Amino acid sequence: MAAFPSTSVLYMLSLVLASLALALAGDFNKDFAITWGDGRAKILNSGQLLTLSLDKASGSGFQSKDEYLFGKINMQIKLVPGNSAGTVTAYYFSSQGSTHDEIDFEFLGNLSGDPYILHTNMFSQGKGNREEQFYLWFDPTADFHTYSILWNPQRIIFSVDGTPIREFKNAESIGVPYPKTQAMRIYSSLWNAENWATRGGLVKTDWTKAPFTASYRNFSASACVWSSGVSSCGSSTPSSNSSNNGWLTEDLDATLQARLQWVQKNYRIYNYCTDAKHFPQGLPPECAKSS
Ligand SMILES: *[C@@H]1O[C@H](CO)[C@@H](O)[C@H](O)[C@H]1NC(C)=O
Ligand SMILES: *[C@@H]1O[C@H](CO)[C@@H](O)[C@H](O)[C@H]1NC(C)=O
Ligand SMILES: *[C@@H]1O[C@H](CO)[C@@H](O)[C@H](O)[C@H]1NC(C)=O
Repeated sequence: MAAFPSTSVLYMLSLVLASLALALAGDFNKDFAITWGDGRAKILNSGQLLTLSLDKASGSGFQSKDEYLFGKINMQIKLVPGNSAGTVTAYYFSSQGSTHDEIDFEFLGNLSGDPYILHTNMFSQGKGNREEQFYLWFDPTADFHTYSILWNPQRIIFSVDGTPIREFKNAESIGVPYPKTQAMRIYSSLWNAENWATRGGLVKTDWTKAPFTASYRNFSASACVWSSGVSSCGSSTPSSNSSNNGWLTEDLDATLQARLQWVQKNYRIYNYCTDAKHFPQGLPPECAKSS
């Protein structure tokens, strides 16, 4: 055996690095496809900005071209300003099929000056019912803010501007399925849900304010891109040796743990793990571990 890497190893390595680099640069034309809305979704400024809009006839949406199996993925979003009651801006990760995995951010609009609700959920192998809801500590319509998902084999962390708001730990050891084999695409849509979104459906959409618009910019992903059964990170259980892939073992340090506690104490308005009424058969097993 040669004492130095063969050309084929170097070639493989360059492929891995190339796919990581591709995933790092943010260009909406390259990374996303508009999927519906008949012209209501637009990619602007040479791929640097994407807008979704909603009027009485239709909403709109887009999805990522790539599928990911683990990653640290950031998107900056500026939500529908003014009277956004009845509107929902959904930004989520999902695999396909009846036993799909899914990680959701949904922003529920409100009357001018009243707070949005950030609604989150997590499905593993087709089972959801893991809602947590938050108010935000800023006006999410005044400027762009960064909404991130860290998804590695140990945990899923939802963050807002770098502050973790929710953590779902791998609890397979107590029988809770964990998303780790199904690649997910990123989806986003702006649609009307006036029957439930705002104050449980009491406040309807004011269509005289249409069209409603949400904006996206600065997408970035350090992720394992999944294509034809092959991960850009190498094996099916990627290791984190490369310094690029530190996120594969990333955990919350003491400072971030404290931030998470702060959000949960002051801004979390609903937690499925404390909603015994919703689970007459008993709370889901992961609740015993995390609460
Ligand atoms: C809208 O504002 C009302 C009144 O402050 C509040 O109760 C509600 O949680 C807010 N958000 C939504 C999405 O209903
Ligand atoms: C764009 O995203 C990167 C990585 O998430 C971040 O470092 C940078 O500050 C962002 N740019 C702007 C204009 O917010
Ligand atoms: C990565 O680390 C694992 C465990 O420490 C080791 O078995 C593997 O050979 C390393 N891979 C590379 C490419 O260095």
